[in-house]
Amino acid sequence: MNTLSNLKMPRAVCCGEGALKKMPEILQAASVKKAAVFTDKGIRSAGLLDPVLEQLQKSQAAFCVLDDLPPEPSYGQVQKLVDACRAEGADMILAVGGGSVMDTAKLAGVLLDGSSTVHDLLEAPGRAKKCCPTLMIPTTAGTGSEATPNAIVAVPEQELKVGIVSDAMIADNVLLDPLMIKNLPRKIAAATGVDALAHAIECYTSNKANPISDTFALEALDMILNNILPACDSADAVSQKSAMQLASFYAGVAITASGTTAVHALSYPLGGKYHIAHGVSNAILLAPVMRFNAPACPERFAAAYDRCVHGEKTCVTQEEKTEFMLRWLEKIVRHLEIPTSLSAFGVSASDLETLVAAGMQVTRLLNNNLRPVTADDARALYRRIL
Ligand SMILES: NC(=O)c1ccc[n+]([C@@H]2O[C@H](COP(=O)([O-])OP(=O)(O)OC[C@H]3O[C@@H](n4cnc5c(N)ncnc54)[C@H](O)[C@@H]3O)[C@@H](O)[C@H]2O)c1
Ligand SMILES: [Zn+2]
Repeated sequence: MNTLSNLKMPRAVCCGEGALKKMPEILQAASVKKAAVFTDKGIRSAGLLDPVLEQLQKSQAAFCVLDDLPPEPSYGQVQKLVDACRAEGADMILAVGGGSVMDTAKLAGVLLDGSSTVHDLLEAPGRAKKCCPTLMIPTTAGTGSEATPNAIVAVPEQELKVGIVSDAMIADNVLLDPLMIKNLPRKIAAATGVDALAHAIECYTSNKANPISDTFALEALDMILNNILPACDSADAVSQKSAMQLASFYAGVAITASGTTAVHALSYPLGGKYHIAHGVSNAILLAPVMRFNAPACPERFAAAYDRCVHGEKTCVTQEEKTEFMLRWLEKIVRHLEIPTSLSAFGVSASDLETLVAAGMQVTRLLNNNLRPVTADDARALYRRIL
């Protein structure tokens, strides 16, 4: 375990029903003249932009809406939006959306002065410079991007997704309003919810785990394991959906304090080359990678069992507790009907070597994995999910 702990998070977070109503106050405190609202067409057609624009009108700031953003954009697509935002002369960035929208907005927040491009940050993230205040309003639960200094972009020429990390991208304000996730379609709720689950358990079993990250990761893990199924299955499960929203944020704080591991590392090429949604590729890898990792940290799995199982605790030994936790992960992915293999996405045995080569490049996250991952290990893990 890491001996140095660091807590970094957004300056102010408001969570709960009606959180959106904080917007005018936030904009007035920052003396905003023109806000740029980053969103996407899916959010707009789900009617989620309207309550935000209503609050913006109350704030008396001018605003523009930038919604020409595909899910999981490439760095070139992000750059186009950053340039459009600069042309609008905005002095505050708002994000209303999932991780794709928030990551793009966070990049805009450090590139608005035009002194660097997204491509520059891929090479030198230290060039990111905070240009204006940012406000994140997540609509998935979720990536936790509202809490992290990370922005993930696709790099088509490498067929990979790459994370840009800079403290300058940590948002100033976050509003977690259940209104924004109340009608999240089941498929999106499932994939993004398992992404949050992966964040929590990866950070808890990471090389970089520390007392601060453990606090957030374990609380997130407990909340997610015990709420994800009703939150996805039932339209009326408002308190469980709210729990998922807060837990995703906590898991994001855990990412900042610790770091994700081999699930996310091996998932990047699946997004970059085969365009499998981030939550889905993580869900496919989650249980197999955790099964691979378990021998390196049985005490962590046992502690997670002790914390997260609230009914009768029937497991006694570390091995029993670890097996219980691994089966719990498998059951969740199966119940949510997320594919458990890559065949559904046209990936076959002939793709194996390309995947291994690309996955092994994600050393930023592989180095966080408690059990070292060799190319042979990566090959065996990919083969297991073919
Ligand atoms: N920065 C970070 O720390 C971090 C962490 C994890 C993932 N990510 C990145 O986030 C991206 C994935 O984000 P995501 O999983 O939130 O999905 P997303 O933002 O790509 O959205 C997926 C789809 O869901 C729709 N959608 C979102 N919210 C909705 C709602 N409430 N109702 C109806 N439709 C809705 C969107 O319109 C979109 O079509 C990936 O690029 C991933 O790499 C970033
Ligand atoms: Zn993730």
